[in-house]
Amino acid sequence: MKTTWIIANWKSNKTIKEALEWVEAVGPKLPKTENLKMVVCPPFTDVEEVKKAVTVGGYPLHVGVQDLSPFEVGPYTGEESASILKDFVDFAIIGHSERRHNFGETDEMVEEKVKMAKKSNIIPLVCVEGAEVPVPTGVNLIAYEPTFAIGTGTPDTPENAAKVADNLRQKYGGDLEVLYGGSVTSRNAKGFLDNKSLNGLLIGKASLDPEEFVKVVEEYGGD
Ligand code: PGA
Repeated sequence: MKTTWIIANWKSNKTIKEALEWVEAVGPKLPKTENLKMVVCPPFTDVEEVKKAVTVGGYPLHVGVQDLSPFEVGPYTGEESASILKDFVDFAIIGHSERRHNFGETDEMVEEKVKMAKKSNIIPLVCVEGAEVPVPTGVNLIAYEPTFAIGTGTPDTPENAAKVADNLRQKYGGDLEVLYGGSVTSRNAKGFLDNKSLNGLLIGKASLDPEEFVKVVEEYGGD
């Protein structure tokens, strides 16, 4: 059966207080559905508290990070290593275009980060801007996020996203799960969620508002 992922990428937003308010507003409203996996990726500073709140509340929400170090623990000032993060998260966004463009992240670094994540049993979600971007071996979860659609209010169409997803599967194998991200809101989510070639959504801006995030989840209509 197909798994659908709905993933909140908060980017560099929310104090601990705001993060906990979001969890308490969203958590009780999330459905406990086996084939629907919901993940929240807060900034590093919020991760521990969010994890605690989700666990105490018993909410069907996984916690992830938006990046991790390409190195093991050690003398790497400012980095967050997978083997430390694994106590709190089971999921990591890797190679988001904002990291590639603003922080010089290369395909090689993405590959190292994927290796570190996998070593610590953290599921890597690798972001690509198109089917031409290399996907490291051992990755099963991809987010297709065209830059023209990120934060612009102009999403790609579900049909085109599905085409890219099919291309990626041709290149990397039929088991690859491909999500769409870029200006997803509760108004356009259904077209992507209902598309058989897509495995869910990576949501930035619209995920910050608890009500809007719940509305997106409500658009999920099953497999
Ligand atoms: P957006 O961001 O939903 O704000 O366009 C998506 C993303 O960058 O993951």
